[in-house]
Amino acid sequence: MDVLNVEGGRRLAGRVSIEGAKNAALPTCVASLLTDETVVLHRVPQLRDVSMILFTLGSLRKRVVRNGKSVSISEDGPLAPEASAYSVKKMRASFLVLGPLVARLGHAVVPLPGGCSIGARPIDFHLNGLRALGARVEETAAAVLVDADRLRGARIELPFPSVGATEHLMMTGTLAAGTTEIVNAAIDPEVLDLVALLRRMGAEIEVDGRTLRVAESRMRGAEHTIIPDRMEAGTMLLAGVATRGEVTAVDVCPEHLESYLEALRAMGAAVDCEARDVTVAAPDGVRGIDVATGPHPAFPTDLHPQLAAALACADGTSQIVETVFEGRTTYVDGLRAMGAQIATDGRTATITGVEQLHGAEVEAPDIRAGAALVIGAVAARGTSRLAGLEHLERGYDRLADKLQSLGACVERREA
Ligand code: EPU
Repeated sequence: MDVLNVEGGRRLAGRVSIEGAKNAALPTCVASLLTDETVVLHRVPQLRDVSMILFTLGSLRKRVVRNGKSVSISEDGPLAPEASAYSVKKMRASFLVLGPLVARLGHAVVPLPGGCSIGARPIDFHLNGLRALGARVEETAAAVLVDADRLRGARIELPFPSVGATEHLMMTGTLAAGTTEIVNAAIDPEVLDLVALLRRMGAEIEVDGRTLRVAESRMRGAEHTIIPDRMEAGTMLLAGVATRGEVTAVDVCPEHLESYLEALRAMGAAVDCEARDVTVAAPDGVRGIDVATGPHPAFPTDLHPQLAAALACADGTSQIVETVFEGRTTYVDGLRAMGAQIATDGRTATITGVEQLHGAEVEAPDIRAGAALVIGAVAARGTSRLAGLEHLERGYDRLADKLQSLGACVERREA
């Protein structure tokens, strides 16, 4: 098992290229199940999670051809109705194959999903949505079995704007008779990227605030380029802030980062958006702020841990209230080992800025907490060793190389 060895304390400076968004790539790959024609995706990030979803599609007998950052997904023969337990347990997004498979085949079996341990992460919205579309759903201890002679459009009100449930039910709705209305839907950029691909595939989808209306459509092949990864951009920019540096995230969509950039401005960082480049500078350090995460367009939960790492050495006290995942504060122990002062009370993390973090031996517990510990390590004085790289690799491509190109001293070593 390799570890990241980080000699912290250097200001990061420079330009860093940003990959396609993991959380847009995963559902757009799944959308290929809605047609027997070929779907071609570009700017697909080279990540473990993407390999896993492509493995899942392969296990369902899709033909996947990968060429660098482009992926072509086609169909040679009949689809299999049963997804591999290995991939669904490893990664939650594989669960999204359930509805499309039922819509195409009339029945499907998908194991109960795994994924990052950042909360209970139930699947009730997904299953109740499929039931509303007329599917019969049976849950066993290990899997979900679903069948339907014909799915029929319905009005589905989500109790919370869940990203995954919105994507799942929207995809399924394209093959259900009549119209499917999803109320209180997630409208994250990744969800709207899926809307863009589905429209290219022939779907009629109306986005009206948090209501999505999906008409039954004949779905065909299409070609689509995935949006830039706002979480990777946000992580790299916060690494710059934590080291009092100046980093430019190249070729991103600044409009996807609005609430995040607003928080950085409130911290006193200088933010400059020029076309598709975003530069953030914090030469004199930053001050504490109060932030609440929430469904888009609020501050994203997937940048909460990284923000906490930058606030750990800000001037003054900050509060982050987490409203999406009750288990988001998995970064706290690792940052505390680096000298951060963080108190948690329910869903609130109170962070009292310290003058300087110090190096420590830590382990990434999940993707975003791992990213927070990397930010802490590059900002800290002294040497840190970070284990658990398999989590980071689920969400970040060549993270060490990219940080190094910005001047950080980060090296991957054998443990
Ligand atoms: N929820 C339920 N029941 C459900 C579905 C969700 O109660 O059936 C709850 C969840 O427990 C949570 C809230 O609704 O409290 C929101 O969860 P959501 O369904 O939106 O999360 P997700 O679709 O499982 C995606 C991202 C996550 C990201 C969240 C929130 C992908 C592949 N994953 O997860 O990304 O944190 O939305 O924005 O898109 C990551 O990239 O590190 C990551 C964890």
